[in-house]
Amino acid sequence: MGTLKGFPYPPAMVRRRRSRRAPHATISAINPAVSDLPPNVKGMNDILPPEVSKWQFVEEKARSMLESFAYHELRTPILEYTPLFVRSVGEDTEVVEKQMYTFTDRDGQSVSMRPEGTACAVRAYIARSQWTREPVTRWYYLGPMFRHERAQRGRLRQFHQVGAEVFGLAAPSVDAEMIAMLVALLADVGIKSSDLEVAINTLGEPEERASYRESLRGYFSSHLDKLDEGSRQRLQTNPLRILDSKDPDIQALASHAPILLDVLGDASKQHFEAVRSHLSALGVQSVVDTKLVRGLDYYTGTIFEVKAKIGDLGAQNTLGGGGRYDRLVSSLGGPEVPAIGFGLGVERVLLALAEPAEEFEPVLALFIAVLGEKAQAWALPVAHRLRLQGVRTELEHRTASLKSQLKRADALKARLALIVGDNELQSGKLVLRDLATRQQHEVTEAELEGKIRQLVDF
Ligand code: HAM
Repeated sequence: MGTLKGFPYPPAMVRRRRSRRAPHATISAINPAVSDLPPNVKGMNDILPPEVSKWQFVEEKARSMLESFAYHELRTPILEYTPLFVRSVGEDTEVVEKQMYTFTDRDGQSVSMRPEGTACAVRAYIARSQWTREPVTRWYYLGPMFRHERAQRGRLRQFHQVGAEVFGLAAPSVDAEMIAMLVALLADVGIKSSDLEVAINTLGEPEERASYRESLRGYFSSHLDKLDEGSRQRLQTNPLRILDSKDPDIQALASHAPILLDVLGDASKQHFEAVRSHLSALGVQSVVDTKLVRGLDYYTGTIFEVKAKIGDLGAQNTLGGGGRYDRLVSSLGGPEVPAIGFGLGVERVLLALAEPAEEFEPVLALFIAVLGEKAQAWALPVAHRLRLQGVRTELEHRTASLKSQLKRADALKARLALIVGDNELQSGKLVLRDLATRQQHEVTEAELEGKIRQLVDF
């Protein structure tokens, strides 16, 4: 068991620096006139109806799939102390180096808006000594992440992930189970597995990677003139990342570089082979991509990415990615617990789904059009009762002509309109109009709910 002392970072890393703290600027001093500002913070969007229905659809499908695989939901704060990400995601990664929203809070401590969820899950895992409660923990989360990237289609500064993490299982069957779950989740949402590419690779153990790093350094150093500025820097900090370059010339160079898989020890190779055979047993087609490295430092062993071959995603076609991080829990002060997880980008999944958002909107079963004060008084409790029975109902509260009320019912795509005026109330015979067929049904108040359920499938 590892020690919790200094978890998740040594005290020196979070020391308060009151003395060096800049005095707080007043809001009025830092805020330019509202009219000078763009309408919203770049790369951070409102999610409005009807789009929000498509979001809810994806979120519900994801929840239901994860619950079937016996995962429990985890909710962690948006803000974490900055060293958590520095120590897990890695100091030399793009995410930590260039993309984090980091600031000093009013206590003089450096905090960051979470750029990803794994580090947060691991912190929570260690903080409550989760391994003492259960040997295997399956957690999932859904929520916003923040990275100051160049905003474009499929790449935002506030984006959302569905993430899953399993702690306590080292077997290759878990790696395959997780990848198969991700593919099944996407299929459930409406993205067929034939429209996906599942790329897998293994990073082996850190010790194995260390000697490979040197041979890679040697290879790229002998082609220094062909490297761009970024790759030259990576040559020093992490040459594996050069393999991940999007530059076609560097990709060509990388295609002749030594391959990590070739130099791994038997245990790593066997684990990887077992993952592949479990995947085929589960019916998941995967391709081995020896250039796949992922952009976060905590990975060991199996890594994977799922790319969409459909939709208008351009370079942002990686819907999700993940891998093993068997050393992270212990490196943050917990015991040695193997772990694996993935993060799925919700915005990218939505872009890959061709159906317009309107198709995901819930059905408005009933619009109650009221004519006159008596009808209005009658309709209020009736609508209330129907709503409490789960009949999605809109009630007109304004005084308007029948024509304009029915126009609004059409605009709201209501399935039925209940037309209530003095005559209907006197006779006790209400008019229920099917707005698609224009067919009218006469009903009493007692028959109303039953008739709605008969006519509308919801
Ligand atoms: P990641 O590859 O950095 O992994 O992110 C996972 C997914 O989040 C990406 O495949 C992408 O769909 C989405 N994503 C990332 N950045 C953006 C962005 N700026 N805009 C829109 N979508 C974005 C992780 O975050 C790891 N925590 C995954 C993991 C969990 N590994 C182990 N456990």
